[in-house]
Amino acid sequence: MNHILVIGGTGTVGRQVVSRLAAKGAQVRVLARSPSAARLPPKVKVVRGDLTVAETLDACLDGIDAVFLVWTAPAAAVIPALERIAKHSRRIVFLSAPIKTAHPLFQQPNPLRAMFEQIERLIETSGVQSTFLRPGMFAANALSWWAPQIRVGNVVRWPHLAAPTAPIDERDIAAVAVRALCEDGHAGAEYVLTGPQSLSQFEQLSTIGRVIGRSLRIEEISPDEARRELLTIGPPPAVNMLLDAWAAAIGQPAHVTSTVAEIIGTPPKTFLDWATDNAAEFRA
Ligand SMILES: NC(=O)c1ccc[n+]([C@@H]2O[C@H](COP(=O)([O-])OP(=O)(O)OC[C@H]3O[C@@H](n4cnc5c(N)ncnc54)[C@H](OP(=O)(O)O)[C@@H]3O)[C@@H](O)[C@H]2O)c1
Repeated sequence: MNHILVIGGTGTVGRQVVSRLAAKGAQVRVLARSPSAARLPPKVKVVRGDLTVAETLDACLDGIDAVFLVWTAPAAAVIPALERIAKHSRRIVFLSAPIKTAHPLFQQPNPLRAMFEQIERLIETSGVQSTFLRPGMFAANALSWWAPQIRVGNVVRWPHLAAPTAPIDERDIAAVAVRALCEDGHAGAEYVLTGPQSLSQFEQLSTIGRVIGRSLRIEEISPDEARRELLTIGPPPAVNMLLDAWAAAIGQPAHVTSTVAEIIGTPPKTFLDWATDNAAEFRA
């Protein structure tokens, strides 16, 4: 694929996809709502576009072979945007979620799930070559969930500390995405991507404390306290979905797959690797 458009290229995963594509010498273009704020490598072309304003997508998609799609826009924008994306491209790699994995962490009802199912259906019925990436919990969630508390003190208040997840490093998701965008052989694939280890939220927080050399006091709070305190990490439906997912996940190890290693040829990064490389974000 010669010309690749990254939608979501200013975000956690998309930014890593863009830098890897640029380093490979691919012709990479980024769709962004505010190109001047994108802070991307100079050789990357950034084009103004907005998924919620479908007419803006045509210019971004002109001459494009493959699209990496991150969708965080409202559900109402899905149909017009997907029609245009599928019309212009031959290959779509969509950053989805493990919505088909039977583990209880991934099976709690939530509004995102229906939207992802709709996006996948539209891509599949369009006839475009597609690959769905289904990462579990991102290691980078720690930046919005825990860093604000850790930067200002040693106390971290968090619910369901015993809930295990297998946090995945955004660089590993991006490495898989680049393979799926640039190589043949991934059409129709659905890759469930996880980090290498099942770690409780308590263990993840302790890892961060170790890495930054501080002894954190990690305090369990109730789901009701969390509902009141965690509105900074997302709207109430997102907070409720997370609380339900963590509660349901307690008592069994997280779902761990070997997919990252099979595709990129090296093991996925550990949470310790991620925390070490992001330690500055947790220091005041
Ligand atoms: N966090 C997890 O644990 C987890 C696990 C599995 C799956 N996921 C899925 O991963 C996705 C999030 O990935 P991420 O963390 O890399 O994203 P992110 O950091 O939240 O970034 C979102 C990207 O989408 C762009 N964007 C938002 N609205 C847009 C619009 N209307 N038009 C064009 N671009 C728009 C943003 O661009 P701007 O610069 O314009 O804001 C930004 O580049 C979500 O779909 C989520 O459900 C997350």
